[in-house]
Amino acid sequence: MKRILTYGTYDLLHEGHINLLKRAKALGDYLVVALSTDDFNKIKGKKSYYSYDARKKIVESIRYVDLVIPEEEWGQKRSDVLEYHIDTVVMGSDWEGDPHFEELKDLCEVVYLPRTEGISTTQIKADLGGK
Ligand code: CTP
Repeated sequence: MKRILTYGTYDLLHEGHINLLKRAKALGDYLVVALSTDDFNKIKGKKSYYSYDARKKIVESIRYVDLVIPEEEWGQKRSDVLEYHIDTVVMGSDWEGDPHFEELKDLCEVVYLPRTEGISTTQIKADLGGK
């Protein structure tokens, strides 16, 4: 059983999110999504449209996702990898080389997947703004 872990906010779910989750799951057998809480989003300078509970409900309904856990702080990644017996941490290529993920390489494999071009939650918000 190969276990995969990925992190993110997953607000206003879009095709880029699904592409990422589908490819992440295809790297193993069990996919854990660590979903940024509303408080952690504040720390990151983000504000989601949907609450954590709503985002959790949506992400849990995706067929590629086996478990959703809260992402509450930058420093939890090493303990997540150990607690959930993770073999591979997967992130989109916007995180390539980020120390938060690079430093996990002594514990597990770290894989960056190419982002889907032309879509992001930020872009959706901008496109819908004021209408
Ligand atoms: N992602 C992707 N392709 C996109 C958008 C996101 O592969 N077009 C991936 C990110 O790289 C990350 C995961 O989806 O691994 C969750 O990203 P998140 O930050 O929640 O979504 P974004 O749409 O990038 O949101 P924002 O614009 O707020 O940064």
